[in-house]
Amino acid sequence: MLDLDSIRKQFPSLERTVNNHPAVFFDGPGGTQIPRQVMDAVAHYYMAMNCNIEGTFVTSEDTDRMLIEADQAMVDFLNARSIDEIAFGLNMTTHTYNVSRAIGKTLQPGDELVVTVLDHEANVSPWQALEEHGAKVHCIDIHPEDCTLDMEELESKLNSRTKVVAIGYASNAVGTVNPVGEVIEKAHQVGALVYVDAVHYAPHGPIDVQALDCDLMALSVYKFFGPHVGVLYGKQEVLERLPAYKIRPAKPRFEIGTQNHEGIAGSLAAVEYLAELGRRQGGAYRDRYPQLEGRRLHLKTCLSAIESYERPLFQRLLDGLEQIKGLKMWGVTDRDRLHCRTPTAAFTVPGFSPREITAEMGKKGFFLWEGDFYAQALIERLGLYESGGVVRLGLVHYNTAEEVDRCLSALEAVVRGQA
Ligand SMILES: Cc1ncc(COP(=O)(O)O)c(C=O)c1O
Repeated sequence: MLDLDSIRKQFPSLERTVNNHPAVFFDGPGGTQIPRQVMDAVAHYYMAMNCNIEGTFVTSEDTDRMLIEADQAMVDFLNARSIDEIAFGLNMTTHTYNVSRAIGKTLQPGDELVVTVLDHEANVSPWQALEEHGAKVHCIDIHPEDCTLDMEELESKLNSRTKVVAIGYASNAVGTVNPVGEVIEKAHQVGALVYVDAVHYAPHGPIDVQALDCDLMALSVYKFFGPHVGVLYGKQEVLERLPAYKIRPAKPRFEIGTQNHEGIAGSLAAVEYLAELGRRQGGAYRDRYPQLEGRRLHLKTCLSAIESYERPLFQRLLDGLEQIKGLKMWGVTDRDRLHCRTPTAAFTVPGFSPREITAEMGKKGFFLWEGDFYAQALIERLGLYESGGVVRLGLVHYNTAEEVDRCLSALEAVVRGQA
């Protein structure tokens, strides 16, 4: 239902060529491309506002207003309760260290935390750092055959001493979507907080923090069509309870120092871009979200339409990759479980280092990442660290079937040694 022609026209960078080949951006999990309206919003901020907050003159007043609108946009994006639950910041990692340090101040020796092998280090290291407070950190393993979490192990580690479960919504390396709602429910039964890293999931599906009963969540807006800015969501009572590090006169908690106003203006525009895509779907998903209206409904509609578009596109990619001789796919590949995976492929090809493949493909205009993407524990667990990790091919909604087909042919030629 997405109008790809009109969508692609909104992303100026998609017109790029490399060695006379059209550029193909399969690097979304590292950061997506930006629609024109986000660029315009950043430029407009510089031209029309560009000021610090809480002054008595128009540029400052407009900045104050824009910041509240941007908070409200994130509230709608996540279906949070109010702008008191949103804090902008540098990126997900910085937010996570700020939250983990604050939680660290509340810990007693013997308290326990849970992290996972599947997660990006940004949702692991900040929690492991709390061992200095005497906390014990359990790291939950995966089932290596499909890179899903070992839920039995996770449950076995939960007890009355568990204070935090840090879990990814989806893996940035192999795309596994975790059963976040189930984890939150189980963690709440023992009184633990759950901190969800939604960085990789955000461009691929609707998020509803209230439905999940999520305590804390962090995102980076450059992964969903906006600027390099981070967002923290927290239930208001959780954010208020945590002893945040902040300078004395500052009011907002977990927003440290002067913010990246131009980036926040762009973040507001990124949410608006998605909401507009949703608006254009009309009432297509109204039945699925009877409790939502206005921009909240448009955003959930948009992300549902994106999900419906990306899944068959990913299946087409998977079908093609599996035809390439020797190629090994990592993660969930069962066709009836593709809802447990974002459209992010991870693969290796015997006889080639992942970097050799991405370098060859890069010359032909295909932008792919390789390595561990800071999901280091996962790549180590799969025994791929020494050999350079995996090749990652990430689809987002501006990618097309034609790009997928062209990429498969080019990849096959590289693997056959005919590059
Ligand atoms: C799943 C996931 N979590 C966390 C991060 C860290 O994000 P940032 O570098 O914006 O803090 C990334 C970045 O790639 C990621 O993919």
